[in-house]
Amino acid sequence: MERMGSVWFLLELAMCSAMVGMLVSVHGQDQNPAGFISIDCGAPNDYPDNRLRIHYKTDEEFIDSGKNAQISTDVIYDYKQSQSKNLRFFPTGSRNCYTLRPDQGKGNTYLIRASFYYGNYDNRNKTPAFDLHIGTDYWITVNSSDYHYKEIIHVPTTDTIQVCLINTGNGSPFISSLELRLVDSSIYQLSNLTSLSNAWRYDIGSSSDTTYRHPQDVYDRMWSGNSYDYVTINSTSTTGLSNNNDAYKVPAEVLKTAQKATDVNPYIYVSWSSNSTDEWCFYFHFAEIERLPTGQRREFTISVSDRLMDTVTLEYLKPVTVASQIVTGPKINFSIDATQQSGQHLPILNAIEIFTIVKHLNVPTAMDDITAINDIKKAYSINGSSWQGDPCVPADFIWKGLECSHDNPPRIVSLNLSSIPLRREVVSSISNLLALVSLDLSGSQLTGPVPEFLAKLPNLKFLNLSGNKLNGSIPESLQKKVDDQILQLRMEGNPDLCKKGLCKPKKKGKSILFTVIASASGSIVAMLMALAIVWRIKTTKRKGAQTTQPIKSKYRPFMYSEVLKITDNFKNVIGEGGFGKVYLGALASDTKVAIKLLSRTSKQGCKEFQAEAQLLMIVHHRNLVSLVGYCDDSEHMALIYEFMANGNLRKQLSNQSRGTHILTWRERLRIAIDVAQGLDYLHNGCKPPIVHRDLKTTNILLNESLQAKIADFGLSKAFAADNDTYISTQPAGTPGYLDPEFHSSGNLNRKSDVYSFGVILLELITGYPAVIKNADETMHVLHWVTPIVQRGDIQSIVDSQLDGEFNVNSAWKLLEVAMQCASTTAIQRPDISRVLAELKECWDIEMGLERSQRMGSSKIRSANSFEMTSTEIECDSLPDAR
Ligand SMILES: *[C@@H]1O[C@H](CO)[C@@H](O)[C@H](O)[C@H]1NC(C)=O
Ligand SMILES: *[C@@H]1O[C@H](CO)[C@@H](O)[C@H](O)[C@H]1NC(C)=O
Ligand SMILES: *[C@@H]1O[C@H](CO)[C@@H](O)[C@H](O)[C@H]1NC(C)=O
Ligand SMILES: *[C@@H]1O[C@H](CO)[C@@H](O)[C@H](O)[C@H]1NC(C)=O
Ligand SMILES: *[C@@H]1O[C@H](CO)[C@@H](O)[C@H](O)[C@H]1NC(C)=O
Ligand SMILES: *[C@@H]1O[C@H](CO)[C@@H](O)[C@H](O)[C@H]1NC(C)=O
Ligand SMILES: *[C@@H]1O[C@H](CO)[C@@H](O)[C@H](O)[C@H]1NC(C)=O
Ligand SMILES: *[C@@H]1O[C@H](CO)[C@@H](O)[C@H](O)[C@H]1NC(C)=O
Ligand SMILES: *[C@@H]1O[C@H](CO)[C@@H](O)[C@H](O)[C@H]1NC(C)=O
Repeated sequence: MERMGSVWFLLELAMCSAMVGMLVSVHGQDQNPAGFISIDCGAPNDYPDNRLRIHYKTDEEFIDSGKNAQISTDVIYDYKQSQSKNLRFFPTGSRNCYTLRPDQGKGNTYLIRASFYYGNYDNRNKTPAFDLHIGTDYWITVNSSDYHYKEIIHVPTTDTIQVCLINTGNGSPFISSLELRLVDSSIYQLSNLTSLSNAWRYDIGSSSDTTYRHPQDVYDRMWSGNSYDYVTINSTSTTGLSNNNDAYKVPAEVLKTAQKATDVNPYIYVSWSSNSTDEWCFYFHFAEIERLPTGQRREFTISVSDRLMDTVTLEYLKPVTVASQIVTGPKINFSIDATQQSGQHLPILNAIEIFTIVKHLNVPTAMDDITAINDIKKAYSINGSSWQGDPCVPADFIWKGLECSHDNPPRIVSLNLSSIPLRREVVSSISNLLALVSLDLSGSQLTGPVPEFLAKLPNLKFLNLSGNKLNGSIPESLQKKVDDQILQLRMEGNPDLCKKGLCKPKKKGKSILFTVIASASGSIVAMLMALAIVWRIKTTKRKGAQTTQPIKSKYRPFMYSEVLKITDNFKNVIGEGGFGKVYLGALASDTKVAIKLLSRTSKQGCKEFQAEAQLLMIVHHRNLVSLVGYCDDSEHMALIYEFMANGNLRKQLSNQSRGTHILTWRERLRIAIDVAQGLDYLHNGCKPPIVHRDLKTTNILLNESLQAKIADFGLSKAFAADNDTYISTQPAGTPGYLDPEFHSSGNLNRKSDVYSFGVILLELITGYPAVIKNADETMHVLHWVTPIVQRGDIQSIVDSQLDGEFNVNSAWKLLEVAMQCASTTAIQRPDISRVLAELKECWDIEMGLERSQRMGSSKIRSANSFEMTSTEIECDSLPDAR
């Protein structure tokens, strides 16, 4: 073998291209062993590695992101492996995955090896650190500047295996090569719940600069030479060792050297300290390589961390492997001790493999959903940097535009490809996403008909196909779902739709939205009255005979002509909400008002508009935007509110307002308290409690003195008193603010509002929006903040526009509250009343008040001390007055 190697080497030196070509064709067969996938990441072309007798491919067909680079020429000859010279790095995307599809498929045992050599490819002399995932689970962290590799022995439960590089904020991940080897399933006993991550694989008794792998090792394991403080022994014959039927197939070259205990040290003992959470597993390989006198045998016991694993009797040149059980603890050791029967023959060790256990804890997305979404990805050539790996798992890496349930296994419940140029028909793979609740394909340049199969999605409740080039008519089955109010369908902006004879009369077909609104519509006043009566009855039951003013009288109905007048014919647009435009108006008394007009093409429909009106008539709190009046002419619907001079909080925080006023730390704190008070009132001051359902910084409005009020009750819903949860029948909320538990339960409850409030706090602290958008990736503010919190770096978290003008202790406190509120699970989130108390403490810290002399909480804003304007009884007395 040694001689063969040098011949190859000479030929390589000769390097005439004709010769290389010949070598490839002659040895092409040998160089692609069955069950091998060999990828030289970043390599410009495929090539045979003649030394290894393996044919390497470029990584093109295995990944669709990242960039190629060559390592620095200063170090390019440091390692002779060709695979060390190029790499692929991933400057964008938090998870980038290679997808391997071995011919043998799932349920087989594979050795997967990823190699890394930074080689200063980027001239920054800064080796990145990052994580590797195997499928949906953490495998290992990569952090070394040397050429090194990570190996795992794995039994996949799917036909594809994904190896993902995770950006942990310590530089762009990179990879030099990726190899997969099929291994006999009878060895390395694994369940589909665990894999073995290779820590060391030693060829005991060899010098440290020898490494055996393919072709000596048919599985291409890499055996590095290593010696302990024992005597090295060496066999003269290897032929016997290589003719074995043992499935482990440890190469004869590896087995032919060993170390033997000495008279001074009559046993072999090795120990090291370990992280107590790590679980270890060993494979000891032995073969007798000394000729013992007839009738004598070497015999010994093998113990790991004082647990006896096996007793072994060796026969000449016959390999034996002992697998250990799993051990754990702060110190790990193994010892090999001669038995009495062994006589003077001391124990030996030929080779050892030491693994740590990788557990597969995350349940991958349902297979049918994975297949369907990958078909969709392929059909539309979607190559977003986040569309890699498992679509839903882990939750931090969910594909952009997807939302998933927390079922076991997780399902895809929402797909949003809005504004992505798909440029072809609606593909049928979508109908295989059976758990889909919401589908947004608006503005995606879709062509062809509206397919019937969309009606077959059993759970679909929201479908937006507007702004496409769809033609034909709406299938009856789909229209029926709309008519039955099972499905909310948006189709506007498809000019070719419904022009043919099959279509309904033009009037009806022209605007589907109109029909939807018309059917849901009635008279706002009638509904409000009805609601008021119901509510009164309920309250009366609950509270006894308490009389109130009729609700209706408090709000003045406006004629449309009046609305025109006070807005000066809709002269000044001051905003645009889900309903439509918001206009500035002035009442006769010169009081400024904001007028929300329901637009026909609005995202939120008539129902939500009415819902908002209904609620606003019932709730009154100085931290809730109050209603002045409403208009419900047959054609027009409008709500008239108090005017909030400083617009919404998002605008105040965003860069757009740079140059104008930058909210100070104290102003931010006060805004936080204002919002918490408003929310506390809704949650704890109203019976039944009211869940806002769409709390976000664009729904927090600021008046001229920067007092914050919660607005936009369109999605709010009071729930039945006995049930703390509102079962949602349609998607609600806004991405970035939506309770991560929503999809498992479909419930939005008070704790969902607390989550949204946590996100708002993070925005107040950092100045960033809930979803931070960069050139080609988006990141939730929570994910941005979390690692920095762990580093304890408050200065990097707080909005840089503040120039460090804040009290560090109050900042920490506020951050802590924000993180609690934004906990993934509802149970970890505090009630808003608790949050409010914490915020008040935070205020006291900011004001330098000691605990003992802290002011009464209601005095925080003395100029605005609490006053309940309402005489309605639906909401109890002021919670803040308690
Ligand atoms: C990487 O290793 C270096 C040196 O051992 C260490 O200082 C650094 O903290 C490590 N980085 C990570 C992210 O583990
Ligand atoms: C994992 O192994 C168990 C027991 O061997 C088997 O019942 C189960 O189906 C396997 N799971 C998968 C996803 O293959
Ligand atoms: C093993 O023995 C051979 C021949 O006797 C010798 O050339 C070689 O150096 C020895 N190897 C070791 C590791 O002692
Ligand atoms: C042990 O490993 C766990 C998980 O990798 C890590 O969180 C912990 O800090 C480690 N402990 C020690 C003592 O290194
Ligand atoms: C080997 O490890 C076990 C378990 O950690 C420990 O109890 C024992 O003392 C160790 N043996 C020696 C010789 O240190
Ligand atoms: C994906 O990438 C291919 C080639 O890089 C490009 O042609 C295609 O337009 C991209 N698709 C999308 C949806 O961005
Ligand atoms: C889909 O995404 C777009 C922008 O990414 C957003 O405007 C739209 O509201 C989303 N649709 C749904 C139903 O959430
Ligand atoms: C719809 O458009 C497709 C091309 O996009 C065309 O082939 C088809 O005939 C059209 N169908 C109708 C009913 O107009
Ligand atoms: C549907 O999509 C259109 C175009 O993107 C958008 O204007 C509209 O607001 C969406 N409707 C809903 C209800 O999300």
